[in-house]
Amino acid sequence: MRIVLLGAPGAGKGTVAKLLTEFDGSVQISTGDILRNAVKAGNELGKKAKGYMERGELVPDDLIMDIMEARMKDPDCQKGFLLDGFPRTIPQAEALKKLFEKIGMKLDAAINLDVPTDVILDRLTTRRTCSNSDCQEIYNVKSKPPKADGTCFKCGSPAVQRADETEEAIKQRLTTYNEKTSPLIDFYKKEGLLVIVKSLDSKEIANEIIKAVKK
Ligand code: AP5
Repeated sequence: MRIVLLGAPGAGKGTVAKLLTEFDGSVQISTGDILRNAVKAGNELGKKAKGYMERGELVPDDLIMDIMEARMKDPDCQKGFLLDGFPRTIPQAEALKKLFEKIGMKLDAAINLDVPTDVILDRLTTRRTCSNSDCQEIYNVKSKPPKADGTCFKCGSPAVQRADETEEAIKQRLTTYNEKTSPLIDFYKKEGLLVIVKSLDSKEIANEIIKAVKK
């Protein structure tokens, strides 16, 4: 399947994407994970992105489009992809539409995970993420805790809070989402691709998405 996952920070895009990868071999492409890996590696992209990310602002569109155009042409994307955290602005969505036209691909759906703000705030302050950049399993001290010693069940690395999980950065990420990303809901509605999912259960959400894509 080829889908875009929309939703505020903490709505559960990464969690649902990881579940969906088990369905038909589609790969999760998370711009957030790609950028965090670049920051950790200290490469050119990481140096450019670090400040924006820590403040909870968006990384400039041109940097993101370069990464995504290259990534979507990788052979593992042939079976499909789950775009997690991209597009994030109207210019990114328009550039993606042009890219699809150029390479003769079609998007199946844009899924909006509609989660109430109080749930989102609770999830963001209790999330833990595996610090191993090849793993990045997502945990939550309430709903899906890591091992008792705070390490990842999959790879044994410490599960930690992200650099953008300070109260100030979370506030800024939600403001940025409302200003820059929420207009994409209307964009995809006009494209006839929007599917709104209101469930708060990740497995239920994954099943609803599979049903919507099969239609
Ligand atoms: P990114 O990594 O994309 O962060 P985000 O959009 O803020 O989304 P999150 O990863 O915080 O949340 P999520 O929706 O994936 O939720 P999760 O599944 O983890 O981006 C980070 C930064 O990178 C941006 O601020 C920006 O600077 C930059 N960036 C990235 N993409 C960009 C782009 N395209 N353009 C420009 N800049 C870009 O779940 C959250 C928590 O809830 C977890 O603890 C999880 O266990 C828990 N949880 C999830 N689902 C459930 C459930 N059903 N029930 C109970 N708990 C649940």
